[in-house]
Amino acid sequence: MSGGVVAKEHESVSRKGSSTTRRILVTLNGSPVVGSSVARLLAAIGAGALEAGGALSSFECNTLTVKPCQACGPEPTTGFCIFHDDMDAIYAALQGAHAIAVGSPIYFDGVSAQLKLVMDRCNCITPLVRLEGGGYGFRPLWARTRRGVFVTALSTKHRYDLAERSVRGFLKWVGARWEETLAWQHDDEEPGSVVTRPDLIERARAIGRRLIESDLLSV
Ligand SMILES: Cc1cc2nc3c(=O)[nH]c(=O)nc-3n(C[C@H](O)[C@H](O)[C@H](O)COP(=O)(O)O)c2cc1C
Repeated sequence: MSGGVVAKEHESVSRKGSSTTRRILVTLNGSPVVGSSVARLLAAIGAGALEAGGALSSFECNTLTVKPCQACGPEPTTGFCIFHDDMDAIYAALQGAHAIAVGSPIYFDGVSAQLKLVMDRCNCITPLVRLEGGGYGFRPLWARTRRGVFVTALSTKHRYDLAERSVRGFLKWVGARWEETLAWQHDDEEPGSVVTRPDLIERARAIGRRLIESDLLSV
């Protein structure tokens, strides 16, 4: 088991003043670059969530110890996974999440490897199981009530729909519904260049506020 601290947690008391009613936004950052555009957009979403009275649990995928999924199902374990590494904290955070914001740069039309490792290991939140009458089916471990968003950064000449599709599938698998994507498409090579677009940063803040202010989805 990895001994590292994997989540940065920021807490603020909810509007009702009770820590038990805090709504938690979980952010997963797939960019390895410190101060990257994706990191800045996720930070703005997080700031909006805190402004709205929520709490924040932020994960930097690049710093985690995460073994790749071995596709060992069905039912190889009664837990989430046969491996115990930094994913244990992610599973707990996703289960307790009110909403989820996933961020990744576009790498060869997809999400970063750092985020993909985490996404694949979440396959067993909706595990493949043997059905009583025979055959196989998927059985979600919890209800699909969370709202989810994707933030990304890429060139103006390329596309993000393939990565978005992948993230939407992931969100479904972890009990969330994708609602929107915030994309910073740029021609420059400057890390963090989204700072030149305060309108996008403000839009990210508004998304964070909305995610916390909105009730869970009904199933
Ligand atoms: C391995 C690698 C693959 C990349 N592939 C693409 C790509 O397919 N399309 C694209 O538009 N940009 C690609 N890029 C550029 C990044 O997506 C772009 O610089 C992005 O803004 C980085 O975001 P970040 O600084 O927030 O991490 C790639 C960069 C790297 C390092």
